[in-house]
Amino acid sequence: MSEARKILILGATSAMARGTAAAFAARGDSLYLAGRDTDELTRLATDLSVRFSVTTHHGVVDIANTASHSAFVKQAATALGGLDGVILAAGYMADQADAATDFAIVERMVAVNYLGAMSVLDQCAALMAAEGQGFIVGISSVAGDRGRQSNYYYGSAKAGLTAYLSGLRNRLSSQGVHVMTVKPGFVDTAMTYGLKGMFLVASPEDIGRAIVRAVEKRRNTVYLPWFWRYIMLIIQHLPEFLFKRLKL
Ligand SMILES: NC(=O)c1ccc[n+]([C@@H]2O[C@H](COP(=O)([O-])OP(=O)(O)OC[C@H]3O[C@@H](n4cnc5c(N)ncnc54)[C@H](OP(=O)(O)O)[C@@H]3O)[C@@H](O)[C@H]2O)c1
Repeated sequence: MSEARKILILGATSAMARGTAAAFAARGDSLYLAGRDTDELTRLATDLSVRFSVTTHHGVVDIANTASHSAFVKQAATALGGLDGVILAAGYMADQADAATDFAIVERMVAVNYLGAMSVLDQCAALMAAEGQGFIVGISSVAGDRGRQSNYYYGSAKAGLTAYLSGLRNRLSSQGVHVMTVKPGFVDTAMTYGLKGMFLVASPEDIGRAIVRAVEKRRNTVYLPWFWRYIMLIIQHLPEFLFKRLKL
């Protein structure tokens, strides 16, 4: 087995993060699990350390509370004894119709998926750039590839995150830090529970394993599962006159 790495997982109680954490733990990496639910984080950290005999830490972070990020990231890196990798899995998707009638919901989606994501990853990037090594994985979404009437508040926040990750990758590539953008399609998690019109739904465990494989290959942008690259290629290239007629 290659050397154990020290990895921070933001939004660790998310279904996709759990799959990813298990896949990192299976290769012996040390983990810092960060989220809002202390009881669930404690259970998760205990489970992973028992099942995979790895070191786990956990702590509380609110991705929307940008003022807390500097101290939080320093504390997580100190607990781990360094920082070799970060996975940003925290995200928030509300119903489009609810968001259309309550702008506070839109603000929350932007605060978590975009503003908070940039803030916390900026802190991680600064630490890693100073060490000249590491990787950053941001979980964005295919929803950010083209605004659709059913999901454009969430989608536009993810589009912002995708553009941020692209710029961060561009900047950090000369400083030894690799940035990977993950664009999942439909995944069977609490976020999509009961959502109508889902198809080709993937399991969060499969997505987690695929994320870890993609990190090893130092991929830049991955669609998961892979076929979403082609679905989104078609959706992105549909001419507007046709796109406007679709109820997507
Ligand atoms: N499921 C899909 O089909 C799909 C598709 C494309 C992209 N994604 C993205 O994939 C990522 C993982 O989502 P998932 O599907 O695994 O959903 P999930 O199980 O609902 O997880 C969402 C996670 O985000 C955390 N979170 C929300 N607001 C937060 C905040 N202010 N501070 C800290 N953590 C916060 C939640 O923590 P709490 O438990 O404390 O609420 C939860 O752990 C998200 O970024 C999502 O947007 C999902």
